[in-house]
Amino acid sequence: MRLSVNGGEHVLDTPVGTSLAHVLREELGLTGTKIACNEGHCGACTVQVDGVPRLSCITLAHAVDGDVTTIEGLREHPLVEAFVRADAVQCGYCTPGQVVSAAALVAANPQPTREEIRHAMAGNICRCGTYPKIEEAILSWQG
Ligand code: FES
Ligand code: FES
Repeated sequence: MRLSVNGGEHVLDTPVGTSLAHVLREELGLTGTKIACNEGHCGACTVQVDGVPRLSCITLAHAVDGDVTTIEGLREHPLVEAFVRADAVQCGYCTPGQVVSAAALVAANPQPTREEIRHAMAGNICRCGTYPKIEEAILSWQG
């Protein structure tokens, strides 16, 4: 199986039926992608495939048909700094998925309204309840 992740090409001997989240974490060591519910409900495992958010825990690695971007590929994105500035990180477990989803949003819509942010981020659950600060981070991501 071939997989393009953060601009690098990987040839992997991955059993059919393995989730993308598992491959990223266990085979490629990209542990920034978190697994929480492992059932497609929480958004912790969100990555982008060709710029579109995808829940990697319910995506079969063999079915991936584009370039994968994980949180490690977004290290330099201004959203990371914006999340810190807005104090939008508490336990931090949901944060990689939040940033990955937000990066897809601002790529398509650089100045989203609160309503658009809520809509785009609805699949990312935060058990610490930092939603207002996450919104603030996305509203102010350009500094
Ligand atoms: S871990 Fe994938 S949606 Fe919750
Ligand atoms: S910061 Fe703890 S789950 Fe979101």
